[in-house]
Amino acid sequence: MTLPERLAQYNASEGAEEYLDEYTKFHRKLSDKREHKLLDRYFARIGQIESALDLPCGWGRYMPYLSEHGAKVLEADYSGSMVRKVAEVFPKAELLGRMRCFGHRIPLQDRAVALAFSMRLSHHLADPQVRREHIQELFRVADRWAIFSYFDTASLKNKIRVMRTKMGLSKKHPKNTLGRQEVRTMAAEAGWEILEDPMLFVIGSGHRLVLARRKA
Ligand SMILES: C[S@@+](CC[C@H](N)C(=O)[O-])C[C@H]1O[C@@H](n2cnc3c(N)ncnc32)[C@H](O)[C@@H]1O
Repeated sequence: MTLPERLAQYNASEGAEEYLDEYTKFHRKLSDKREHKLLDRYFARIGQIESALDLPCGWGRYMPYLSEHGAKVLEADYSGSMVRKVAEVFPKAELLGRMRCFGHRIPLQDRAVALAFSMRLSHHLADPQVRREHIQELFRVADRWAIFSYFDTASLKNKIRVMRTKMGLSKKHPKNTLGRQEVRTMAAEAGWEILEDPMLFVIGSGHRLVLARRKA
């Protein structure tokens, strides 16, 4: 689960406002550009889709992009203020719906949407079991495609964080990571295959962005 104080921050009305402001910052614009470059490549394979779950949706940063690819989008987030913000930022959007839920307990039937899309949630989930359950839920509710990010245990950024913490040079929490092989095994066990999982940036980021497809 996301740490309670972080969850409360996101859920507060200022939480949504602050996250919206984040995207005026240079480093966010840079990572946004890189994410879009990878996503364009993924959608060149996926083509048009009819529905997508965007979880966590935040203020809806990816909703227009998913809609451009044909999808009716279901916007979902733990934070009520984020879910409300989507309607404020995009008042004319025709959505499949908006809902509050946890990333590891998705109240949808199996294979309910064509694509399950989860950008920048996994690394907030402090409990490794919850991180795994989140990905298993994405595989369960998606009919054909899943796109999600996670923080790689073997990334340079994580290794440096672990080392600095051990040496007493950093008081920051350890990163909430997953192993690349662990994610691949989870995919295989659920009947999925990972088509691509590059790092967002090799230096300066430990996030991988996964494109996965159901085998049958
Ligand atoms: C870094 S933002 C990412 C939002 C969006 N995907 C984006 O890339 O702009 C993380 C989001 O995860 C939501 N969140 C945090 N913990 C969650 C949980 N356990 N289940 C569902 N959503 C959660 C927060 O409310 C926040 O909107």
